[in-house]
Amino acid sequence: MTDILLNTSSCKSIIHCGDGAFVKYAPLLGGQKFLVTDTNVNAIYGKLIKEYFVGCGLYVLPAGEKSKTFRYLSDILAAMADAELNRSCTVIAFGGGVVGDIAGLAASLYMRGVNAVQIPTTLLSQVDSSVGGKTAVDFKNIKNLVGTFYQPSEVIVDPLFLKTLPPREIRCGLGEIIKYAALDKVVYSKLLKEANIFSLDFLGSIVPDCIRHKVRVVSVDERDVNGIRKTLNLGHTTGHAAELYYRRKSHGEFVLIGMYYELHIAEKLKIGDVKYYAELRRLIERAVKIPVYADIEKAAGLAKMDKKNTGESISLVVPTSEGESTELKLSFDEYVRLLKEVNQ
Ligand code: NAD
Ligand code: GLY
Repeated sequence: MTDILLNTSSCKSIIHCGDGAFVKYAPLLGGQKFLVTDTNVNAIYGKLIKEYFVGCGLYVLPAGEKSKTFRYLSDILAAMADAELNRSCTVIAFGGGVVGDIAGLAASLYMRGVNAVQIPTTLLSQVDSSVGGKTAVDFKNIKNLVGTFYQPSEVIVDPLFLKTLPPREIRCGLGEIIKYAALDKVVYSKLLKEANIFSLDFLGSIVPDCIRHKVRVVSVDERDVNGIRKTLNLGHTTGHAAELYYRRKSHGEFVLIGMYYELHIAEKLKIGDVKYYAELRRLIERAVKIPVYADIEKAAGLAKMDKKNTGESISLVVPTSEGESTELKLSFDEYVRLLKEVNQ
């Protein structure tokens, strides 16, 4: 087991990682507690929740992104008020990124902010969403439009929960892990050496390395203002556009597809090391089958909505060499032209 500390100007957050972290740290959460989870997680871990959080208030969200809305945020806040929680209470998010984002937002709003703890149960939430304090709900059909930066005081990351994840959710988290590989030399070399990148033992063991990378980034750019935190969106511009247009696959698979396309674009523009790009693409191909999209131009239109963009240009974060990345700004026409060339 290992502890990782996140220090920012606003907070100190401790991330307990490893086998046994839940059993060791969940019982230590004191005071008035209120736990938010979702229907799927509750169906699997309801007994464990009752055993470890005796007398704790509970809100069970319908599983899925469609619940990340004001309506459910308001329901959670109402349930917290009904439970007569005071300012020294703790809100525990027990679930994937949807639960983490909405419960984190509720914690940041209730009485102008109460203690938040994250217990992430998906691979994606363990390597990404539970760390770094971004909270949100979707609004007006736009993902994460309304939210806060609000750091949890503790995050309890236990590989135990990965055992019940469906393969789709494993692939989704693996997408984000390969994104870290393109940003971080340690994650990269471990992935290259691993024969079975889908093995739960391997995935559980690489989670802390991904968290360490995210912690380093967030500690110098908590509020996503100086360009450093933006790097965590590597592959996401094209990936997110394809996700919005084509749907069907998981978010993480689209991140990988986005990375694959953007690596080709970076190569065509002679941005980085060609041998390294080829190796990264081979790694991506071990995790996902890359589709050929006949109508990529239509999907590309959705990249105009990406939050990284400024003015008219499309922003892509691309790797340059091991552990290094840069931001590319392309006109929309050039972006589409290059995407079409990659797709030929
Ligand atoms: P999710 O929370 O919807 O979980 C995916 C599915 O897995 C759900 O059906 C859930 O019920 C189920 N599940 C959760 N834990 C399980 C377990 N242990 N066993 C079996 N099933 C389980 O999705 P996610 O991929 O975890 O998170 C996606 C969300 O995270 C999105 O809303 C995204 O915007 C957000 N996000 C936030 C940040 C951030 O920094 N705050 C970063 C990345 C993503
Ligand atoms: N997932 C990107 C971030 O936390 O900034």
